[in-house]
Amino acid sequence: MKLLFGDGRQARGGDRLPVTLLLFVGEVKANAFGEVGKLFLQNVCGGCQYQHIAYPAQLQIKHKQIADLFERIGKISREVVAPVVPCLQPFGYRNRVMIRSQWNKPEQKLNIGFVRWDCGLVEDIEECRIAEPPINEQIKHVRAHPPPKGGIKVVLRIPPENWEVPRDSFFQNNFFLLPELVKTVREFLVRGRARHLIDLYCGVGFFGIELADVVESFVGVEFDQQAIKAARRNAVLHERSNGEFISADVQEALPQLLTRFSPGATSLVLDPPRKGCQRELLELLRRERPAQIIYVSCHPATMARDLNVLCGDGVFKLVQVVPLDMFPQTQHVECVAELRAVSIPNEQA
Ligand SMILES: C[S@@+](CC[C@H](N)C(=O)[O-])C[C@H]1O[C@@H](n2cnc3c(N)ncnc32)[C@H](O)[C@@H]1O
Repeated sequence: MKLLFGDGRQARGGDRLPVTLLLFVGEVKANAFGEVGKLFLQNVCGGCQYQHIAYPAQLQIKHKQIADLFERIGKISREVVAPVVPCLQPFGYRNRVMIRSQWNKPEQKLNIGFVRWDCGLVEDIEECRIAEPPINEQIKHVRAHPPPKGGIKVVLRIPPENWEVPRDSFFQNNFFLLPELVKTVREFLVRGRARHLIDLYCGVGFFGIELADVVESFVGVEFDQQAIKAARRNAVLHERSNGEFISADVQEALPQLLTRFSPGATSLVLDPPRKGCQRELLELLRRERPAQIIYVSCHPATMARDLNVLCGDGVFKLVQVVPLDMFPQTQHVECVAELRAVSIPNEQA
């Protein structure tokens, strides 16, 4: 997309232009929601698909996207989807970005920035509006000390306070909405009243450690060995002594854990990567029926697919889905869903 000022000059990222924008998202005209935000020229890096839309309209679009997905893929009533929890810091919130470099042959210069959505080439960028200011300082530093011609790939990140996170391990990348995320999972866990918590895909132990005070005991499972070592140290750092961390594939570890903790007294937090849970894991959960599953996901489509499997034949009931806008200006959104096992009539007898 090329935008020109009235005098024919080409606008660059960060320039402000008065434009009228008619945007189609699925079948919905964005301006049907009222005000369309001032257009900030969107970088072709492809990271911020919604930067040109006013923030309240972004939230409504995301709510509709999730409700549609749940209805279409999950066969779940859209009524269970709560309004999207907004992020009070809709710009300058990201604590982690990946910067690449690539030699731009036609222009005989090194591009340092993000991969473009349309052609896979590296787009030169000077700053990222959704990254926290210290990340932008780090971007400046990389640009001021460029590598020789070749390609680099560096992760720039701000470490979270009070958490040890190995360089290549996962941590949530919006600190501003993190308390709301924990609060949502905590409320679900408290009302589930389980005695034990199994935190699957636990990373550096974030949910298990944050929620350890709600249960008698907890176990975290993660296959990144460095993350598990950090999780054990994080538990000490947060003075949590009622849990343990296991380095394993979730699918291998879970059967044994569900013989140790009675499923009827156990809640599970599932926070898988974007591709969702393995089918075998979902089948195991359907057989064992832990009392409560709290499914956390940054990919609503795979989440809807997995919830459809879990809720098939009424094995689990989906109580509520809370979307949280951990990724303002982008099409992404985090969701937390609460499921309860439906008891089998002859088992009650
Ligand atoms: C979205 S992150 C969630 C991390 C953690 N819950 C948090 O909030 O920080 C997903 C995690 O699952 C781990 N993972 C992916 N597949 C796994 C598997 N099959 N078994 C165990 N861990 C896995 C990844 O290494 C990653 O740390």
